[in-house]
Amino acid sequence: MGRVDGKTIVVTGGGSGIGAAFSLGLAAEGAKVAVLDRDSDAAEKVASSIVERGGRSLAFTADVTSRAMMRAALIDAEQWGGGLDVVFNNAGFNKPMPFLEVTEDNWHSIMDVNGLGVLIGIQEAARIMIRQGTGGKIINTSSVAGRQGFPDFAPYCASKFAVNALTQAGARDLAQHKITVNSFSPGVVTTPLWITLDQDLIDIGSATMPGESINAFSADILLGHPAAPEELVGTALYLASSDSDYLTGQTIMIDGGKVLI
Ligand SMILES: NC(=O)c1ccc[n+]([C@@H]2O[C@H](COP(=O)([O-])OP(=O)(O)OC[C@H]3O[C@@H](n4cnc5c(N)ncnc54)[C@H](O)[C@@H]3O)[C@@H](O)[C@H]2O)c1
Repeated sequence: MGRVDGKTIVVTGGGSGIGAAFSLGLAAEGAKVAVLDRDSDAAEKVASSIVERGGRSLAFTADVTSRAMMRAALIDAEQWGGGLDVVFNNAGFNKPMPFLEVTEDNWHSIMDVNGLGVLIGIQEAARIMIRQGTGGKIINTSSVAGRQGFPDFAPYCASKFAVNALTQAGARDLAQHKITVNSFSPGVVTTPLWITLDQDLIDIGSATMPGESINAFSADILLGHPAAPEELVGTALYLASSDSDYLTGQTIMIDGGKVLI
């Protein structure tokens, strides 16, 4: 028996990085994993590699900022899996800008995906779970940037503080339906997001050479190194399994001790 045997689990941003590691890890523990991403090829690759390993998975294409696409994809995933048990609202991105140069476009593009995308994901998942009447688990990806403000990441930090707020508000509203809402906060994780971020920070003059920023951000991690995405899978399994049934409204730090709160 796997820890999430037979559960239908949707992972947004499942085509890369943390979402891909979660999709593979949850499938290895018996889940039927709907790998959802706006990048169809990336989602397809992850779903195929799960199936090649003997797991159950299907790729879904949707942009998390589109309510219509998310509603349709979640209903399709429910039909494919024979129910909807767990949704990870994990898709997100960052585009750093020096604090005084942050533009309205930069703010809106980040808040749309990381903030509004999570609100839509919670709402549309909950509508299905309420209709099913069997409860469910909604898990959002926050960040250490949801606990501290960093000057080159102001809209990103605001968006991740928003994720924590949506987690609390959703938990309070949805407990009556036996739906729990929790988040987890990674620190520095070696994914394609950080490759782009490292270059972006050079481009805005906040770093001079590749690797400088990720090393600087990792310097105060108590456990001494940035995480590989696989190091977060245990937390994902805990949050998706019945082990966390009595947990709701919480944001769990899984950052190697970068931020103590
Ligand atoms: N990597 C880190 O150090 C780190 C740290 C803290 C939090 N996070 C958060 O973890 C989550 C995953 O990040 P990652 O590092 O795996 O990034 P990643 O870039 O490797 O993967 C993100 C995935 O999300 C998808 N995506 C982006 N916008 C989307 C949209 N609008 N609709 C649907 N899919 C979309 C991308 O296509 C990509 O496949 C994000 O929410 C990120 O903010 C990452």
